[in-house]
Amino acid sequence: MLTHERSVSHHFRGGLILLLLAVLAAVPARPQQSDQPKATPQSSQTSADLWWKHAVIYEIYPRSFQDSNGDGVGDINGIASRLDYLKDLGVDAIWITPMYPSPQIDFGYDIADYEAIDPQYGTMADFDHLVSEANKRNIRVIMDWVPNHTSDQNAWFLESRSSRDNPKRDWYIWRDGKGAGKPPNNWQSWFGHSAWQFDEKTGQYYYHHFYVQQPDLNWRNPEVRKAMYDVLRFWLDKGVAGFRMDAVSRLFEDPKLHDDPILPGKNAFGDPNIQHKYTDNLPEVHEVLREVRQVVDKYPGNPVLISEADEPTIEDLDKMYGPNNDEVQLPMDFKIADVNKLSAPEFRKLLDEIEFNPLDGQPYFFFSNHDQSRTWDRYGDGVHNDQIAKLMAALLLTTHATPQLYYGEELGTRTTTPTRIEDVKDPVGRTGWPKDKGRDGERTPMQWDDSKDAGFSTAAKTWLPIPPSAAQYNVALEERDPNSIFSFYKHVIALRKDVPALRNGSYVAVNRDDPNVLAYLRKTGHGADSVLVALNMSAEPRTVSFRLQGFGVQGNSLQVLVASPKQASDQLPLENIQIAPFAVLVARVK
Ligand code: GLC
Repeated sequence: MLTHERSVSHHFRGGLILLLLAVLAAVPARPQQSDQPKATPQSSQTSADLWWKHAVIYEIYPRSFQDSNGDGVGDINGIASRLDYLKDLGVDAIWITPMYPSPQIDFGYDIADYEAIDPQYGTMADFDHLVSEANKRNIRVIMDWVPNHTSDQNAWFLESRSSRDNPKRDWYIWRDGKGAGKPPNNWQSWFGHSAWQFDEKTGQYYYHHFYVQQPDLNWRNPEVRKAMYDVLRFWLDKGVAGFRMDAVSRLFEDPKLHDDPILPGKNAFGDPNIQHKYTDNLPEVHEVLREVRQVVDKYPGNPVLISEADEPTIEDLDKMYGPNNDEVQLPMDFKIADVNKLSAPEFRKLLDEIEFNPLDGQPYFFFSNHDQSRTWDRYGDGVHNDQIAKLMAALLLTTHATPQLYYGEELGTRTTTPTRIEDVKDPVGRTGWPKDKGRDGERTPMQWDDSKDAGFSTAAKTWLPIPPSAAQYNVALEERDPNSIFSFYKHVIALRKDVPALRNGSYVAVNRDDPNVLAYLRKTGHGADSVLVALNMSAEPRTVSFRLQGFGVQGNSLQVLVASPKQASDQLPLENIQIAPFAVLVARVK
């Protein structure tokens, strides 16, 4: 989700969090997870290997991953040329953000044709080649599906806007204004200002939740649903493994057009803050999610659905799984992503909330993406950022949740925000400058080596500049350094695959009252394999002791699987373990 979106919604979410804390304090703790595999409530995917429960998913922003033709913009052949790197890192699936033909107003999230490839990224043959090469390496390809809105250059919209009685008029949200220059109501775009755009030709307004050039589709029209489900089938027929669904909570708006409630203060765009009460999370969203699930479930290989929705409460997030596990398998957990500070109690609470969700839905974690400033800076304290990057990697990769990485986070890529408005590419940054400088900072080219274009391109100028830190933080250097952030990611990903407790084990928090060290056990049935994870979220050295008998775990010592910084010995007692500031300890209980 977008940075300013977070700051706006956090404003009114604070009250909800306080209320939730009060309720949690008043009720007994939720039961701890048992060792027995849980009976999963009805799901239409029944295969023994639900691959998406164990996959490491890697988000690629195609403009910025690898340029193969020297134009300064990444492309599909570039991605194909780096598959061996992804394989070596341990990636099981790549989610590629939109590569469809687009005027690139929102860098691909404004789609002009859902069933083609934008020539700047390559051809359909290049795409087919990528899928086939990825599959040879057991890497699945996940597409981005953008159902809420199209580009204003999409043929559907061009027809829709051509006359009031065009057959596609009702494919979008057209309404009369309230008089000259007055839009139908006070709804605002996430990208600033009114969400209604007047169209001279037909004298009506169209609704756009995002940019003016991104008109919203009308999901109450069955023809729209059919067309968008055909898009899913088109890509599934090409062998993709599923979809990341963009902005799905925004599909419906109140048909009576009630004004949204106004909140105190102004946002980065200078508009009054509002609660997006009538344009977000309407109940019909779930009807669509169930239909989408039915479409993908007709295909072999257990295709996955990942939802982008910044759910305000755990109850809303739980709902994304569907009442019978018949909606989304992997709803993105924005609450975990956006803790935005190292707080053991806060992470413990959120891990518990999602881990013990009533449907036993699979949690899905990420910390960085193309809309959020990078983890290295957002969680870093300015002094220990590299160590904190490893701590965040351990948190991402050692819980039971399916992890999603964002390209370059495995290197310690930092956010490189433009310093002059003339350099800004993201429209959000131009409208919100200087309060919101947009998302260019987290979309800079991948840092492959320390050459001029960092091995990303051979162009005289890349579409976004190469961050100066590419000289020290790049694949070529970090692959050779056993203590690099890259080597740490690779090591922990390998452990996640090889160690049964990390791959399959249940999760339970230990030392629940520790304000500084987040610690948890992962264990397989009856504690046959048990791994303890301890993450010091403070800038002070800490001494920790563990009493694990009550958790059904055998053993009275620890065998270190990975420790950063290194521990003096690979064998540790369970008592009085010294752990350094922001240290990571992952150890098998023996
Ligand atoms: C999602 C995308 C973001 C895009 C927006 C509108 O939030 O992640 O990049 O701008 O949708 O499509």
